[in-house]
Amino acid sequence: MSTANGPTDRMNALEAARRGGAPGFAPDGLGPLLTRVLGSHTVSLGEPILEADVAPAVITQVRFENLRTIKSLTLDLEGLTVLIGENGTGKSTILEGIELLRKAANPSFVDEFFQVHGGFPSLLRSGESELKLGVTVRDGSNTLSWDATLIRLASGGLLISREVMQGVEDGKRRPTSGYESRSSSANRLKLGQLGERDSAAPLLDCLRRIQVYTAFETAPSWAGQELKRPSPLRETHVFQPAERLARHGANIANAYHALKNEFGKEHWDETMELVRLGLGDDVSDLGVRADPGGGNVALTMWYRGQSEAVPVFSMSDGTLAYLGFVALFRLDSRAALIGFDEPENHLHPKLLMRVLSFFETLAKNRPVLLATHQDRLLDGLEDPASAARLLSLNAARELEVHRPDRGALDTWLEKYRGLGDVRAAGYEASVFKPDPKGS
Ligand SMILES: Nc1ncnc2c1ncn2[C@@H]1O[C@H](COP(=O)(O)OP(=O)(O)OP(=O)(O)O)[C@@H](O)[C@H]1O
Ligand SMILES: [Mg+2]
Repeated sequence: MSTANGPTDRMNALEAARRGGAPGFAPDGLGPLLTRVLGSHTVSLGEPILEADVAPAVITQVRFENLRTIKSLTLDLEGLTVLIGENGTGKSTILEGIELLRKAANPSFVDEFFQVHGGFPSLLRSGESELKLGVTVRDGSNTLSWDATLIRLASGGLLISREVMQGVEDGKRRPTSGYESRSSSANRLKLGQLGERDSAAPLLDCLRRIQVYTAFETAPSWAGQELKRPSPLRETHVFQPAERLARHGANIANAYHALKNEFGKEHWDETMELVRLGLGDDVSDLGVRADPGGGNVALTMWYRGQSEAVPVFSMSDGTLAYLGFVALFRLDSRAALIGFDEPENHLHPKLLMRVLSFFETLAKNRPVLLATHQDRLLDGLEDPASAARLLSLNAARELEVHRPDRGALDTWLEKYRGLGDVRAAGYEASVFKPDPKGS
């Protein structure tokens, strides 16, 4: 139950701090976390662990050609990028393309291309025969780029007709860190065969540290039983170490076990503070309960005044999703790029704002790419002019990307509370202008 100094007030205070207002506003009973937040007038919400260990190389650009609605797209990534657009424009496709780039760093790429992603019938833009993937990584003053052309053979098989790795140092090409192969028979990427000590290793390492999440699936346990496909978040899991929240939140119990036991009391207290910010002051603890039948563990939540913990299978959808985001935020330190499709699923708008703060903090150390349907999320952006991308389809059903015009947006924001509000009122065409890199 929320009290006068409960989570609602805290959230309001955070919102005020975020917008630069309410200096000196310091509700009672807040932990050092919030004091720090209000003191600095930024919504930093603590730091994910091990930030100092983040490798310097970062992904700065991804490129796709002939991927479903994408004819040709060059997407620069820095800080937070939020894709918004109508159903079927290609938001999830961009995230899937990024997941393909992650897999390109593994020797099993071609198998997964077909078995997990459906191969050319699922991915290749209709009427086309060549799918192109590319990525650029910045490593200090060096840049490394990798591009590959995948051709669909008449047999349905795959040919890697061209694969190029290019190193650029201080604007000059570095042949030592690259290769270029053209082939009429290659059916494996060279990239996944490179060794750790290859000069292109920073690019490989960055790709392996990509994390793409799809919306947390929290279907109630009874629905999962009927479908014979329980939500990964609600299942019990074999007890094992967790370095990060796995895709679909499939290791949430292990993630909280790690958070509670591996990083010290102060870190755990901050994690619980974030949990209470979203879920209320009456959350007293989170636990990881061992399944009596064996080595499996499941998440449980304690509320003050209740004698029994709420097991993960009876938590609300939004509660569970929010716990997933807290775990993702607090454990995720090594990611070179984080993608999340539809983070708004199950979340009350206020919780969505909390989750947006997590992503904005994560985006200080690596690019974060969100895909959403929620104008409300655009309203909460710290810098909507740099973060938002509007996706649409042209008459040929090709993806087109639009970016806000900063000057136009500033004018509209005199009357509207945020970019999402402007868009919801039907004025998106006055604010978003075509991005020549996304056609
Ligand atoms: N082979 C293909 N060639 C061209 N377009 C395709 C092909 N296969 C699927 N598509 C289109 O690609 C789009 C895929 O949409 P995607 O899932 O990326 O959209 P989205 O923006 O995430 O939509 P939503 O908001 O509904 O989640 C659909 O519009 C689909 O019709
Ligand atoms: Mg989608």
